Amino acid sequence: MSQFKKHVFICTQGPYCCFDGDTEAIFERMKRQVGACGLNEEVRINRAGCLNQCGHGPMLVVYPEAIWYSGVQADDVDEIVNEHLVDGRVVERLCFHAPPGNNKHVDHYPPEVQAFKDAAERLQKEREALRQATLRLLKERR
Ligand code: FES
Repeated sequence: MSQFKKHVFICTQGPYCCFDGDTEAIFERMKRQVGACGLNEEVRINRAGCLNQCGHGPMLVVYPEAIWYSGVQADDVDEIVNEHLVDGRVVERLCFHAPPGNNKHVDHYPPEVQAFKDAAERLQKEREALRQATLRLLKERR
């Protein structure tokens, strides 16, 4: 038995969903609403990187049911919490029915979004290189 009954993963760190809506506001409102409903011990709300459903965002997924929601905006959060997380009823109007796997459709984004994506990938590589260098330093000190 896991610690939490449900996990909600919200794509806040992927390169596209943050241009489809205010993913941080969705995350903050989801956490607040789950707390207000007394579900903090049962439902874990997590920020997530890209969920490979880009272009349909903002995306979130609820496990263990594996129910995907697309085009979610902050104003939709209370409905998802009250209907799905509290009462166990899927919010069909936001449900994302897609075949398993990668369902990226990103051709409609303007070039500025691609530039953002490229910059984010560069920063991620720099972060990883810095992490590796720090790990090497820590090993040398032991
Ligand atoms: S950027 Fe959100 S699913 Fe890819």
